[in-house]
Amino acid sequence: MRIVVTGGTGQLGKAFASLAHLYTGQMFILGSRDMDVTIERQVIDVFNQILPDVVIHAGAYTAVDAAETAQDEAFRLICLVPVTLLLLV
Ligand SMILES: NC(=O)c1ccc[n+]([C@@H]2O[C@H](COP(=O)([O-])OP(=O)(O)OC[C@H]3O[C@@H](n4cnc5c(N)ncnc54)[C@H](OP(=O)(O)O)[C@@H]3O)[C@@H](O)[C@H]2O)c1
Repeated sequence: MRIVVTGGTGQLGKAFASLAHLYTGQMFILGSRDMDVTIERQVIDVFNQILPDVVIHAGAYTAVDAAETAQDEAFRLICLVPVTLLLLV
């Protein structure tokens, strides 16, 4: 199975990266430089290349205090992106 992990540079993503050697399928650990999940075109291009069976979405908006002012950005990343990923995988 081909697994994409978003948020590969974050705490959770790094935990998956540290376990990737135990997985016998293919795991692609992606940071936001590899795929910005808020840019649908980028997600489509990367998914077309990798053809993932599963996406583990560890990319997230974690600047909790900043979310009070950057509400649109937080809403997009927390609420809309997971739906987009679900529809595109
Ligand atoms: N850490 C835990 O113990 C834990 C436990 C349970 C659940 N969780 C959940 O796991 C998720 C990640 O938590 P975390 O602790 O790993 O957070 P984190 O260390 O702050 O990492 C957040 C990740 O999201 C990425 N990201 C942000 N904006 C992005 C974008 N537009 N496109 C692609 N990637 C983007 C960041 O990439 P850049 O660095 O490149 O911006 C980073 O890799 C959250 O939903 C959290 O609630 C975490």
